[in-house]
Amino acid sequence: MKIAVPAESAQGETRVSLVPETVQRLTRDGHTVAVAAGAGDASSYSDDAYRQAGAEVVADAGALLGGADVVTKVGEPTSDELGHLGSGAVVIGMLNARQNDQLIDDLAGRGITAFSMEMVPRIARAQRLDVLSSQASLAGYKAVLMASNTIGRFFPLMMTAAGTIPPATVVILGAGVAGLQAIATAKRLGAKVQAFDVRSVVREQVESLGAEFIDIEVADAEDSGGYARELTEQEQEQQTAALGEYVAKADVVITTAQIPGRPAPVLVKRGTVEAMREGSVIVDLAAETGGNVEGTVAGENVEVGGVTIVGPVNVPASMPEEASVLYSRNLQGLLELIVGEEGLALDFEDEVVAGTVVTHDGKRAGQLAS
Ligand code: NAI
Repeated sequence: MKIAVPAESAQGETRVSLVPETVQRLTRDGHTVAVAAGAGDASSYSDDAYRQAGAEVVADAGALLGGADVVTKVGEPTSDELGHLGSGAVVIGMLNARQNDQLIDDLAGRGITAFSMEMVPRIARAQRLDVLSSQASLAGYKAVLMASNTIGRFFPLMMTAAGTIPPATVVILGAGVAGLQAIATAKRLGAKVQAFDVRSVVREQVESLGAEFIDIEVADAEDSGGYARELTEQEQEQQTAALGEYVAKADVVITTAQIPGRPAPVLVKRGTVEAMREGSVIVDLAAETGGNVEGTVAGENVEVGGVTIVGPVNVPASMPEEASVLYSRNLQGLLELIVGEEGLALDFEDEVVAGTVVTHDGKRAGQLAS
């Protein structure tokens, strides 16, 4: 099979979909891998590293994509890229399929079989393919470092001849994959960490990392799939008010709360931001889906009454070396599911394949049928 790896073209995207480590495994298994010249430059993987892994490095898009059986991307394919593909080719990437009707129609219209990595079912067997987890872990870690670099104080308790400085208080809202990694990172830096999540099952995980679970009286909001459900307006108001007391006293607040397929819930109101001490910092990891904080602007640092709200976008792209390694291993997991000894072997009875495919045979897949 021919597997093609184009360079990413989205603004700010520094990751590459397959790193040399994965390319080597694929070429060892007898596949041909073609990589666009310079595709790994921004993530520190040189053309030479790809050549040593057995790839062909190609400068011309037609030569790269022509005859490709599988094309791997981090983000969406461009229409130029799609124009080089034959019907029946497979495209894999984080296609943002649930919000991307036009792209899905285009892929179906071209007869492409497309897999959208963020749709991999969150089940134990598919953990190796789970891009949401692999990338969110990195984001949780980096959010703490962003806060530490922005705030004008340090995190640990410091005892010096000139006196003792207490540790910074870090409040983390949303303790899923990113939040738990943020807790672990803030603890390693010596902060006092408090965390909250609407899924009460998370309490034990928070405490096992040495953080305090914020005790407020709200109903548990885990749905049957293990995700948070959207709170009612009244529940959300009640929660926001109760959390306000903790947020107002924090030096650093990191918010990570998401509801799959919905805008992020607002957990911190403007009044609470205004009640925070001047100089404190909020990092809103939900900035791209609307933000957990009133006043967040995606891609910007905003000042509200002396408090800085950081609204980062595409945080994993700030650590492209490892973000690409993890993403590439996630893709390898999917490739192992859809490629057999004789080439493509698509088993739509397989829950993971069926959950991740978004177009096939000229049609949108069942979960996206309109
Ligand atoms: P996410 O990115 O969708 O949301 C982040 C966190 O925000 C979640 O923990 C959620 O409960 C929380 N949240 C939502 N609304 C909130 C609110 N109003 N206030 C406070 N917190 C709120 O979630 P993520 O990190 O992707 O993980 C969600 C679930 O998926 C977890 O149950 C996790 O254990 C599960 N999971 C399963 C995997 C698997 O088996 N393959 C892999 C990774 C996660």
